[in-house]
Amino acid sequence: MAHNRPGILETERLILRPLAADDFEAVHSWAGNPANTRYMSWGPNSEDQTREFLAATRPGRDFAVVLRESGAVVGSCGIYPDDANDTGELGWILHQGSWGRGLGTELGGELIRHGFEDLGLRRIQAPCAAVNHGSYRVMEHNGMRREALHRKALWARVDKEWIDLAVYAILADEYHGRPARAPGPTKAELQEAHRALSSTLHKCEKMDRARLGKSQRTLLERRIAALGSALWLIERECGTP
Ligand SMILES: CC(C)(COP(=O)(O)OP(=O)(O)OC[C@H]1O[C@@H](n2cnc3c(N)ncnc32)[C@H](O)[C@@H]1OP(=O)(O)O)[C@@H](O)C(=O)NCCC(=O)NCCS
Repeated sequence: MAHNRPGILETERLILRPLAADDFEAVHSWAGNPANTRYMSWGPNSEDQTREFLAATRPGRDFAVVLRESGAVVGSCGIYPDDANDTGELGWILHQGSWGRGLGTELGGELIRHGFEDLGLRRIQAPCAAVNHGSYRVMEHNGMRREALHRKALWARVDKEWIDLAVYAILADEYHGRPARAPGPTKAELQEAHRALSSTLHKCEKMDRARLGKSQRTLLERRIAALGSALWLIERECGTP
């Protein structure tokens, strides 16, 4: 989509523009609603807290989510670069009445595009309550992967309980379609390694244990176990050669 106005991002149905004090009523309609803030690390807000939030927002980092068709402000979102690590963190919230129409997925995709293509980030990530289906599906639809699960790491302020926190991320290489790592070994290379390891295992198994001291026997048993594990891994990767 066109995105040639500074501080403004655009998608098919949405305009993401800087938040303003005038947005108070719209922002407070979700920021003060427990159903909306159930899995957030803040809220539900008092009116003063929403005013403080609005006063602290920064153009280019925090955005109002505006429906292109009607001009209604239906949510807010943000991208927060960490310059030292060349990464960015995402956040979003939509008014409950706007859920389930693909708007979250649409704005998430645009924030990721902006982060990689305009800001040149290397990695984009976001924490999310592990049970927050709406939010983690937005990330999965946009190619982010669950990388970690931090157990009982988030205080669910509405339900008043400790819940698990998932971390999702996508790398620039993945976004641009480049392999994130060098390609793994070929099937022929794995088969060659399998032959060499099998031959070593065979020799180890044939050794006369009675002629070995106790520590040598222990070493031999460990080597046999390690070779067996390596063979099993190769067989899992490319079948029994
Ligand atoms: C997260 C959020 C922005 C998603 O917005 P959205 O526009 O509803 O998302 P989409 O329509 O693109 O749908 C994404 C997924 O959410 C699901 N979803 C939508 N509304 C839902 C609801 N009320 N309950 C559960 N899942 C829901 C969709 O079914 C879809 O999943 P699927 O692909 O498996 O079917 C929105 O749910 C929200 O504002 N939640 C409250 C704030 C919040 O939790 N923010 C994230 C903090 S990490």
